[in-house]
Amino acid sequence: PVLVLDFGAQYVQLIARRVRERHAFARIVRHDITAERVRELNPLAIILSGGPKSVYEPGAPQCDPGLFHLGVPVLGICYGMQLAVQALGGKVEAPPAREFGRTDCHVLDPAEPLFHDVPRDTVVWMSHGDQILDAGADFLPLAATSTCPIAAAKHRTMPFYGLQFHPEVSHTPYGSLILGNFLDRICANPRSWTMEAFIERAVEQVGRQVGPDQRVVCGLSGGVDSAVCAALLARALGPRVVCVFVDTGLLRGGERADVENVFRSHSEAELRVIDASTQFLKALEGVTDPQEKRLRIGHTFIDVFREEARSIPGAHFLAQGTLYPDVIESGGEPDGPTATIKIHHNVGGLPAELGFELIEPLRDLFKDEVRRLGLELGLPDSLVWRHPFPGPGLAVRCLGEVTAPRLEVLRQADAIFLDELRQAGLERQIAQAFAVLLPVQSVGVMGDARTYENVIAIRAVETEDFMTADWSRLPHEVLARSSTRIINSVKGVNRVVYDVTSKPPGTIEWE
Ligand code: XMP
Repeated sequence: PVLVLDFGAQYVQLIARRVRERHAFARIVRHDITAERVRELNPLAIILSGGPKSVYEPGAPQCDPGLFHLGVPVLGICYGMQLAVQALGGKVEAPPAREFGRTDCHVLDPAEPLFHDVPRDTVVWMSHGDQILDAGADFLPLAATSTCPIAAAKHRTMPFYGLQFHPEVSHTPYGSLILGNFLDRICANPRSWTMEAFIERAVEQVGRQVGPDQRVVCGLSGGVDSAVCAALLARALGPRVVCVFVDTGLLRGGERADVENVFRSHSEAELRVIDASTQFLKALEGVTDPQEKRLRIGHTFIDVFREEARSIPGAHFLAQGTLYPDVIESGGEPDGPTATIKIHHNVGGLPAELGFELIEPLRDLFKDEVRRLGLELGLPDSLVWRHPFPGPGLAVRCLGEVTAPRLEVLRQADAIFLDELRQAGLERQIAQAFAVLLPVQSVGVMGDARTYENVIAIRAVETEDFMTADWSRLPHEVLARSSTRIINSVKGVNRVVYDVTSKPPGTIEWE
């Protein structure tokens, strides 16, 4: 693997993703991993990430200096570069002015392999307070900006390279190429990380893990992760996979049919669809508080799922579509960085309670890799590019009480809005889009009569990580068509409004 040492950079996962786009497997590890442990892991390369501290501050995170003497190529980015240069005898300081944003950068030696095919004058993304004042005689500067004479450097005798700028962000247009050069031209990257090879390995591993008379239960949510997880397991185990799809009655229009079509036509896995909508609606009767809705839906889901799982003979494993970011952020990775804020809980508490063993075939993958894997496994575009959908479903978009007629109004409006976005070719650039049924009525006039009916809010957001999001600047025509179609064809709606709130201060969902 390529080991990415995490010094607390905002962009550490992005570094790993970029490396994988270059077909090398990247793992994020704690910054204080020992040189001995690194040697055992036998990495292709080591990348030292950026970080928020100054390398000369007391308590600034360090790395084992033994790393530089393993003979493994090391690339330091920003803080990682400063750390290495300081450890190897150079001097880091805070210059009078910080450098932040897109910056012109000049490559000093066009023959340098790290900058192969990169224009001599290019743009890089800078974000630093400190910089290298004096690298000492052992380092050779490779690039410079007007205020940063050592924007890139390499050691004269050891396989160390450093970049003061951030090659991982898209604002450094040649950043991905520079990382690729490092991997291919300096580390002799065998380019073995592909989704094809991943499937082969995963199929083999799952085949070894699951005994011939054991079965795997796989909950399908209608989302990408669980679908890809099920498809991968089905590839490995065929009918020994039992997919369970709970129709909560809180799904979007056509969702259940889509899942049924894909799984009945695409795989040999058994599919059990449970219609539990009556049970869910009953549990939600009279409830308007958002947290209470979530709680009741969660409990009902566990009840329904448990009941079904118990009736599957030979069921030994429960599959979960846990992804790599969840694994890192919950501190569940050996050698990984310590847990941050997010504790993830997919089917919280279920495996232990049911005596299942967990199987998580996607735990090494990023979201974009899961999508590529899904396509490679033959899942249709419509499923692979599906927007995320919250577990509690339409219940948290049906503000106020959740009833069957109100859900129907919401479902119809939602389907129209999504259809308009699809027709306008906007579905991919938008991260999430949906309709919300508000618990207010407004006055209108239709034909010659006064109406007093429901209001639908439509929302579309753009985001990379769903932690922050911006509302989409949708073309007015798309908004106009959506509004007209919703009001004309959804009975009980006489007004449509567009949500122009970003996150923060808003959240993506309304409750
Ligand atoms: P918010 O509304 O917090 O949403 O900005 C961020 C992302 O999380 C989704 N979301 C949920 N997903 N269970 C889920 O599985 C939930 O209770 C839940 N609440 C919000 C939301 O759709 C968005 O993608």
